[in-house]
Amino acid sequence: MLRDRLYEPWGRLDRAVRTNRPTSFDSSQGELFDYLKGRAEEQKKFVDGTHALGLIPSRALARRFDFSRFRHLADLGGGSGVFAIEIARRHRHLRATVVEREPVCPLAEQYIRAEGLEGRVSSQAGDFFRDPLPAGADIALLSHVVHDFSPEENAALLRHLSNELPPRGALILSEWLLDEDRSGPLAAALMSLSMLVDTRGGRSYTYGELRELLRAAGFRSVERRALLGAAQLVVARKA
Ligand SMILES: C[S@@+](CC[C@H](N)C(=O)[O-])C[C@H]1O[C@@H](n2cnc3c(N)ncnc32)[C@H](O)[C@@H]1O
Repeated sequence: MLRDRLYEPWGRLDRAVRTNRPTSFDSSQGELFDYLKGRAEEQKKFVDGTHALGLIPSRALARRFDFSRFRHLADLGGGSGVFAIEIARRHRHLRATVVEREPVCPLAEQYIRAEGLEGRVSSQAGDFFRDPLPAGADIALLSHVVHDFSPEENAALLRHLSNELPPRGALILSEWLLDEDRSGPLAAALMSLSMLVDTRGGRSYTYGELRELLRAAGFRSVERRALLGAAQLVVARKA
């Protein structure tokens, strides 16, 4: 994917920065997830890649967050299920559902079966912008998802999740956050450039921006926690 889709568009980075528009596709082509739709091999590489990137942060999240009062995790856009798998492995009272685009679900199921967790972890095809949360879900996770979308799209997504979660429900965002002055850290700045080149509205966010979006979506309490390196958690609760 880096070679076939992104190498040349990164060569046009100056244009992307000048125009604030992507250079990896034009209006006749789709964004990243449309591009992956008909390309099974590329889709698998993307999922395997995000799985590898998620292995260590998912362990950190499973260790550091207190899941004891929750029963069912919805891992939205969960890819291979790397976060759902690690969290369910460590918290044996918890069920987890990976909500993904249809072509990704069989890939997640392979990972889940390989860990012998198919009794408690499953995948469900769905669109997290509009579909109901899996029945009984009381905590939702968006890991490396909000950077794929514009502030307007995220406002709609977070409002939908706030409506869907039960009154004592919670939402975790796991992201590489930009500092408030947007001068770094490097990983978040590079991710933002990558999203500029390859999506219509995606970018990295500051904690302040996400807090504002979450409050506007109806979450009452919002806090930030360190996770690992550039990765940080933003935890939002309805009550
Ligand atoms: C950057 S990946 C993150 C994967 C995983 N959460 C992680 O942290 O490794 C974003 C994922 O969101 C999924 N996705 C994008 N749009 C979606 C939608 N509307 N509904 C469900 N999943 C979606 C993609 O298929 C992709 O696997």
